[in-house]
Amino acid sequence: MTTTQPFDPVPFQAFEQRGWERAAEYYGDAFGGLTRQTAPAMLDAVGLAGHERLLDVACGPGFIAAAAADRGADVVGLDFAPAMVAEARARYPALTFRDGDAEALPFEDASFDAVVMNFGMLHLARPDQAIDEARRVLRSGGRYAFTVWASPDKAVGFGMTLRAIEALGNKDVPLPEGPPFFRFSDPAETRRTLVAAGFSNVEVQELALTWRLSSADAVFDALSRGGVRTAAVLRAQTPAALEAIRAAVVREAGTYATGGEIRLPMPAMLASGTK
Ligand SMILES: C[S@@+](CC[C@H](N)C(=O)[O-])C[C@H]1O[C@@H](n2cnc3c(N)ncnc32)[C@H](O)[C@@H]1O
Repeated sequence: MTTTQPFDPVPFQAFEQRGWERAAEYYGDAFGGLTRQTAPAMLDAVGLAGHERLLDVACGPGFIAAAAADRGADVVGLDFAPAMVAEARARYPALTFRDGDAEALPFEDASFDAVVMNFGMLHLARPDQAIDEARRVLRSGGRYAFTVWASPDKAVGFGMTLRAIEALGNKDVPLPEGPPFFRFSDPAETRRTLVAAGFSNVEVQELALTWRLSSADAVFDALSRGGVRTAAVLRAQTPAALEAIRAAVVREAGTYATGGEIRLPMPAMLASGTK
């Protein structure tokens, strides 16, 4: 089911694609230790035992594809940023990665047993279309799973940054309009969307992830270089505002110091369903 689009998706998708090309080199080391923590629960959610054919959509550096291959699956990773595909190939040369758009998957109907998307949904111009596409390429009875961040009051790395921008900077910078970043943080909305798209046995659960960083500065660096929308908002600040935001984030991140590192609670929502 595709819902009515309240904005033009083309500029937003181009903005995200440029942003991921720019962030590709930095993203894997900045976020990989965090985002790959979902792999066991996500692969369990699609019932991956081994030998299934699995598609990892918006694969980035290929962390979930690699975890699925370790379980014995026959995997393909797909990403629309050529620099991300290059990163994935460099990290996991034995696996198959290709360029492609989550909203127009370059595969035949019913060609996979499982489709997953780890933290990709919140970057899509047309998430409903990507969900329809995932369902199309799944075989009947195949399983779909995706993750997004929990709301910023829970995913504290985002919460502290967004609050600092709001208090000390300008959050209304001119960016192409896109879908709400935290839409699928709401389990009811996720359930409704997957059921409307035709999935059954829909489940939504919260995963307790911890972002471990070497220093409070590393939190701000990761958010300002390793992503797209927040990074663009930060780049658009005046130098004085940016420095004030940085100092506030570093101060708050420092309150999570323990055992010689920073440990930030960054829970995620894991959604799954059966075609
Ligand atoms: C936050 S990263 C997640 C990467 C990886 N799945 C992980 O778990 O770390 C989001 C990824 O989605 C990709 N992406 C965003 N929109 C896409 C689209 N329409 N089609 C394919 N990939 C897309 C980006 O290039 C980026 O690699």
